[in-house]
Amino acid sequence: MARRKIVAGNWKMNKTPSEAVALVEELKPLVASDDVDVVFCVPAIDIIPVAEAVKGTNIQVGAENMYFEEKGAYTGEISPAMLVDAGVKYVVLGHSERREYFAETDATVNKKVLKAFEHGITPIMCCGETLEQREQGVTMDFIRQQVKIGLQNVTADQAKTMVIAYEPIWAIGTGKTATTEQAQEVCAGIRACIAEVYDEATAEAIRIQYGGSVNAATAPELFAQADIDGGLVGGAALKPDFGKIVNYK
Ligand code: PGA
Repeated sequence: MARRKIVAGNWKMNKTPSEAVALVEELKPLVASDDVDVVFCVPAIDIIPVAEAVKGTNIQVGAENMYFEEKGAYTGEISPAMLVDAGVKYVVLGHSERREYFAETDATVNKKVLKAFEHGITPIMCCGETLEQREQGVTMDFIRQQVKIGLQNVTADQAKTMVIAYEPIWAIGTGKTATTEQAQEVCAGIRACIAEVYDEATAEAIRIQYGGSVNAATAPELFAQADIDGGLVGGAALKPDFGKIVNYK
């Protein structure tokens, strides 16, 4: 069975609650689609108003992070139950910005992935190499490590339902999209890694997105690749362009 495409916007630290609602109202008619899953991953404080604003549409709400404990003395953190209660279906985990600025590691990403599954939230687990790693020829070694550690103790049945986002760090927010060949090559490599860790059926089911300066012009070719099942979109997710990316065909 063909994998259903999934296009997720990663709003990052943009939009106040009232701005978020205005953006949803603007994008709503543009992102309507019968054959692509559409997710708006928004700042925590925007989740409740956005969940309200998307009611009755095809848009699903995602979070940009989550803590791996149930509750308690973790000042400033957001628990999985809080996200579920607010209507969140997806959570971005291990984004390179969280790894770089907030000390996320493969091990903490793994704890969060497991916790998300426990609560029925679908993880969008991010991986991706630096420019230096690409130049040194260790891209795939590095990504295989991120993926394998991130998936420790995740069952095949769980892995089948999740999303992995391949985001080369040098392509994020730089306007420098990976070439279609580079993106497809790594996404195929990730799928092969999943087949090794689990089996072919799991590798065939898991959805792998490309992310990094995706825009309306680059999406059609990227999303047409055999192993690219959609995109994780930053900058262009805040603009009408996002509608064109969702409706890339
Ligand atoms: P970008 O961000 O599309 O602005 O490059 C992608 C991401 O960081 O998820």
